[in-house]
Amino acid sequence: MSLEPVFFRPSDRVPPLDDDPDDFMGYEVLVDFLEQRALQQLDGDFIEIGAFMGRGTAKLAALARRYDKMVYVIDPFEPGLDQTLSKSGIKASEVYEAFLRGRSMLETYQESTRGFDNILTIREDSRKVRFGGEQRFCFGFIDGCHDQVHVENDYYVIWPHLVPGGILGLHDYRFDEWPEVTTAVDKIVDRHSDEICEAYEIEAKYSIRSLLLVKK
Ligand SMILES: C[S@@+](CC[C@H](N)C(=O)[O-])C[C@H]1O[C@@H](n2cnc3c(N)ncnc32)[C@H](O)[C@@H]1O
Repeated sequence: MSLEPVFFRPSDRVPPLDDDPDDFMGYEVLVDFLEQRALQQLDGDFIEIGAFMGRGTAKLAALARRYDKMVYVIDPFEPGLDQTLSKSGIKASEVYEAFLRGRSMLETYQESTRGFDNILTIREDSRKVRFGGEQRFCFGFIDGCHDQVHVENDYYVIWPHLVPGGILGLHDYRFDEWPEVTTAVDKIVDRHSDEICEAYEIEAKYSIRSLLLVKK
């Protein structure tokens, strides 16, 4: 990657793992970053690919609601569909099942996001989703299927619709267990470096980082 990211240390808001185990990533860190960047001043909605149990979605939706923005969510909510193999040989579906502890992913998501009328859920494989030319996003977060094909696909679902100054976050960057994420992200950044003005890495739960790209 030619654009060297700046490491952003979020205040003291990385939540402890047992604080809200159903929010895998620790979205407070993300919300802090977006507020510090005053993203609400930009045109466009939020979008998340890979919502899992929806705890993070609810935190994004609470922020978005204050600024009359929508949160679009793309996720099939079928834990068995994602057979991506991690470096240590565990399937993504097994990770999902372990965190769900017998619960339905869809029902848990619906429970987490109940009461928000600014969430639009698209229950699909992200490779089947494309938005019309008029759609504008000011923030996107990618944490869906962790194989290279999907990460590249997910970038193209969002990036063409991101407004100038808008931010795209990619979770699991440089995380050893899902190496295809980093391969895909580095390729994307190389190919599109002339469209990116800043890059940040933020660290949240499990010390896993996200790369955040700011669009020119
Ligand atoms: C690691 S989890 C997301 C965790 C969530 N961002 C959090 O921090 O709480 C990955 C999610 O991606 C979803 N997913 C898997 N394959 C997908 C695909 N092809 N399109 C969209 N979402 C997908 C899974 O259903 C799962 O909910």
